[in-house]
Parts: sequence; structure tokens; C-alpha cells
Amino acid sequence: MRLPSRVTVCEVGPRDGFQIEPDFIPTSAKVEVVDLLTEAGVPRIEVTSFVHPRVVPQTRDAEEVMARIRRRPGTRYAALVPNDKGAVRAVDAGVDAIHTVVSASESHNLANVNMTIAESIAKLRAVMQVAERARVHVGCGISTSFGCPFEGEVPLAQLERVVGRLVDIGARAIGLADTTGMANPGQVARVLDHLGPRFAGVEWTLHTHDTRAMAIANILAAMDAGVTHVDASIGGLGGCPFAPGASGNVCTEDLVHCLHAMGIETGIDLERLIDVSRRVQEIVGRALPGQVLKAGPWTRRYPLPDGVAARLPIAAR
Ligand code: COA
Ligand code: ZN
Repeated sequence: MRLPSRVTVCEVGPRDGFQIEPDFIPTSAKVEVVDLLTEAGVPRIEVTSFVHPRVVPQTRDAEEVMARIRRRPGTRYAALVPNDKGAVRAVDAGVDAIHTVVSASESHNLANVNMTIAESIAKLRAVMQVAERARVHVGCGISTSFGCPFEGEVPLAQLERVVGRLVDIGARAIGLADTTGMANPGQVARVLDHLGPRFAGVEWTLHTHDTRAMAIANILAAMDAGVTHVDASIGGLGGCPFAPGASGNVCTEDLVHCLHAMGIETGIDLERLIDVSRRVQEIVGRALPGQVLKAGPWTRRYPLPDGVAARLPIAAR
């Protein structure tokens, strides 16, 4: 495998994760989680979304969350926006980056943002202008890049067209999102090998969901294809409310644990990250799918069973 020496992780739990929680999470708890993630050294955080509050009630406090978080210089605080109205709100709230959303499949785009792909691209053109005026970074995410829960397979040519339109309106950072965990590692490799040379200069992000337990394998395939930016959510929170069967993102602490075990740097303090996950479980009131929180890191050691120590060969003591 060709592995990078460093990977930039964007934590999306406060947005992709919290948005699907049925009970409103108090604003103070959202702020607390973002602050804890900052303190754990997470370099990029998708804090919230500036979408219609009736459509996603959980992020109706977006402005307040942005105003109350403690921002560390060097950490990039982003928000998801679907249109220019959201972009103006996000810029006014002081985001460092805007993450846009459009799907590779028409059905999911209509279900998610009530627009055709062409209508979305027109809105995103306006988003780019708002962001440029405000000198705010833009990352363009493409939902259902590897499959659509309504249409099934998304032809690569269709994904390529959407990427092309985003590049035409000025996108330089593009996130390929596996919204409902349909991607497999072979497919991720094929898609990136196809798109990479055709859109040289694009910074790719892989956004995975672990719906079918393939997320970390997909990230390994993406790293092998040269990707060094990945999204993840603390504890494995998450899911898209407008995609049936969606479940959580790849779990941040499990991913960071895997990367560190392989000697790949993230700048994140794993122990503190695990503490954040524990706190998030308290906030949502249930166990989350993360594994390392339960098992501890691979460096964890257990006391020897009775009688074993005395019988160990000298060389093994
Ligand atoms: N924030 C707040 N209000 C918004 C908004 C935004 N980003 N975009 C539009 N609105 C308001 C408009 O001002 C208008 O208000 P009015 O009725 O008081 O005049 C109203 O919403 C309707 O505007 P329209 O452009 O027709 O929006 P819509 O009803 O077709 O909804 C979206 C489109 C994109 C706003 C909505 O589908 C949405 O917020 N989707 C987000 C889905 C999401 O977050 N999914 C999970 C992440 S992948
Ligand atoms: Zn997602």
C-alpha cells in the first residue's frame, strides 16, 4: 500500500451526526462538543448547517453555536450550506469554510434539497460568489457519489459530470460522499483512479458512512489512490435524514486510532478524542458504534492470569 505520512481529518459529527438525532440537543451541549474537539486537536470541524430550520430542526441554532464556540487559531470551522441564502447566513456567522452539498443522483438531490442537480449547481454558483467576496474557503461535497438509496448504482460518467460542473463554477476542493455506505474499496479505487487524472489539482476528500462496515477499508483504498483528506464523526454518530437506511459516518476515534497505529500523523490527541466520544454518548443517551472506546487502543495491556508469570520462559518476561 502507498500510505501518506499525514492525513487531515474533518470532524463532521456536530453536523452530520447531530442532525439525525430525534431530540433537540441543547445548544450548550453542541458548543461543548465542538470545544472539546478543538481541544483534542481536530484540525477541521463541520460545526453545523445553515439550512431550512423546518427541514432540519436540529441545526436551527446554527448562528448561536457559531457565536459561542471557542475558536482556536489554526482550526478550520466549517458549516454545510445548500444555497446562497445559507452561504450568506454562514458568512455572517463567521465560518472559515463553507461545505456545499449536491448529489450525484437526481432523486437524492430532490429528496435532500428540493432541487434538480442543475438547479443546485446554479445555487452553488451563487454560493461561490458569496464565499469569494468573504474570502471564505469552499469545499464542495457530492452526496450519493458511490450509489443512491433510490436509484442504486450511480454511473461513473454521471458522477464525472457533476464533478465537472463543480470545477466549472470554481470548485477546487471536492468531497466524494458515500451517503448510505454503498461503496466498496475496489470501487473507491476505480472512481479515484478515473477522476484524479481528469481533474488534476482538485483536493479530494472522502466522506464515508459505515452503514455496511466498509468505511475504513474504503478510506485505505482512497489513501492508496493519494487522498489525504477524510471526514469522520465522533463515536460514529450520523446519517442523512433524507436517505433511507443511512447510518453513522466512519467513527473518528476508530479512524484516528487506525491511522496512528500505521504511523500516519493527524495532529489529534487520541486519548482526548476518546474522552470526547464518551461525553457525546452521555449527551445522546446511548452507546455509539465506536469500537476503540470499548476495546481501548491496541497498546492496552491486561494483567497476566494467575500462575502464567511464573511459568514464562526468561526470554519472554
Ligand atoms: N436557511 C434558512 N432558510 C432558507 C434557506 C436556508 N439556507 N434556504 C431557503 N430558505 C427559506 C427561504 O428564505 C424561503 O423562506 P420564506 O418561505 O419565508 O420566503 C423558504 O426557505 C423556501 O425557499 P426555497 O428556496 O423554495 O427552499 P425549499 O423550501 O425548496 O428548501 C432547502 C430548499 C435547500 C432550503 C431545503 O431543502 C433544505 O434546507 N435542505 C437541507 C437538507 C439537509 O440539510 N440535508 C442533510 C445534509 S446532506
Ligand atoms: Zn454524510
